[in-house]
Amino acid sequence: SHPPCKALSASDRDSFGYKTMQARLPVIITKVINDVYQTYHNLPSTELDLKEKEKEAKHIISTISELRYELQHDKKFRPLRDSEDDVEEWNQTLADHFEGSSWFKAPWLFAECYLYRRVRETFALTQHFRDYDPFHEQKKTVFKSSQKAVVAIAVRLMSPSEDSTANGTEGLSSLDILVSQGPESVGTEEAFFELAQFCLWGNATDLSLLDNPDLAKVEELQKRMMTSTASSSNNSSTTSLDKQLEEQQQGKGGEETSELQKHEEKILANDLNALWAKVKGLRKGRVDFILDNAGFELYVDLMFADYLIRAGFASEVVFHAKTIPWFVSDVMPVDFQWTLDQLRYASSSSNDSAPFFDPSDPAEQKALRDLGAKWQSYVDQGVWRVTSDDFWTSCYAFYHLTSLPSAQDLFTDMKKSDLWIFKGDLNYRKLVYDCQWPTTTPFKKAIGPLGSREDVPSLVTFRTCKADVVVGLAEGVEEKMDKLANDWQVSGEYAVISFKQ
Ligand code: F6P
Ligand code: MG
Repeated sequence: SHPPCKALSASDRDSFGYKTMQARLPVIITKVINDVYQTYHNLPSTELDLKEKEKEAKHIISTISELRYELQHDKKFRPLRDSEDDVEEWNQTLADHFEGSSWFKAPWLFAECYLYRRVRETFALTQHFRDYDPFHEQKKTVFKSSQKAVVAIAVRLMSPSEDSTANGTEGLSSLDILVSQGPESVGTEEAFFELAQFCLWGNATDLSLLDNPDLAKVEELQKRMMTSTASSSNNSSTTSLDKQLEEQQQGKGGEETSELQKHEEKILANDLNALWAKVKGLRKGRVDFILDNAGFELYVDLMFADYLIRAGFASEVVFHAKTIPWFVSDVMPVDFQWTLDQLRYASSSSNDSAPFFDPSDPAEQKALRDLGAKWQSYVDQGVWRVTSDDFWTSCYAFYHLTSLPSAQDLFTDMKKSDLWIFKGDLNYRKLVYDCQWPTTTPFKKAIGPLGSREDVPSLVTFRTCKADVVVGLAEGVEEKMDKLANDWQVSGEYAVISFKQ
């Protein structure tokens, strides 16, 4: 079916889509080439099938270089040539809707998905690199640079501090409250608001926006998240925008507000209250996360999922990962397990490689290991379930989840859930069909059948804004934002939390 409004496309030279096609994606592809080149160079001479592997690596490099050429010269899309399960669906769509279309003419969401699927094709057609993830090294590097924040969170979660055993909860952060109280009082409103915002802002550290990930910037962002104090105040975004504008005009940065409040003011549509009303009514329910990025974002997602379990709101959490390397940093099932392993085996050098996380303090090492062991036990007991389906990396918007024949098993299973949590920018774009909605369009309308059908559970999206489309804003917010920061829609500094009952 057709988009409900005019698709966003790179043919508009002022759009972020154009910038992405023209400048960002060639960099991403070049990094894939460099990664394979490195792997090729590092192949030990003792490697079995060395000659074969070298030949394949060289072939991958030239095929991906051709792909970059096709993109940069706006060549027509061609059918896929591999024999993966989803190939017919892709080729049928290409034939039915994109005959003669090309990178800069098509809706840019389609073109981008097609690009990652073409990268997949290249590896799928090899023998030795079939399961190779060309983004794995990048995911690792950035997660490694998050060590400080990862450790600090683990310590606070796993070992109650002196203060947190004091009477009352005044002055404590919600993380302390989480550990200091028995499980029956874990599910406080304070904890919910703070952890939900961690979960939201974790999305700001994804890799595809950071063409050259500035690791110091990532660390700074995480530090700011960590030093924030709990607040469940709910400023209407319009009032706080007025304040931000006023401060900008007076040249000050709003020093009196806490870090978390400052962050909260940047949530331009904020349905956290409605989400809290839903969550606190759940008793041993099922919550589904449609995951976005690996690394720090996944880590804070797990922290939020842990909270839902500990508080008794959920007894089952299902994580939907991607089946193939996707938009650089998205989680695949192997990334999920890899992450738990790095926590479980922190600072232990049982295998030949050095430990990934290696804080010097034994208490910190223990906190990481205990947290990893605990999360692993959730997986082993089936309390947490990791799954993946080709639907999430298909060319379809999420409107089609309810009707696409190949998505029916997935949809049938997901209907058993009480709440779907969609993480990140791309999942948001797929929810609202990535078209030119007026920013005041109600979220429920923008998500089509997911908003109107009775059999679709409650859903929420935690999204930092990194692409043109945004809906659910109050009257006047767009105009105010345009005055405040001209790149507000794409900078990743602002966010929306939109909820459908
Ligand atoms: O490149 C397009 C895009 O959707 C951006 O808008 C965003 O920076 C990135 O890909 C993915 O972001 P996320 O990981 O939050 O989905
Ligand atoms: Mg992503």
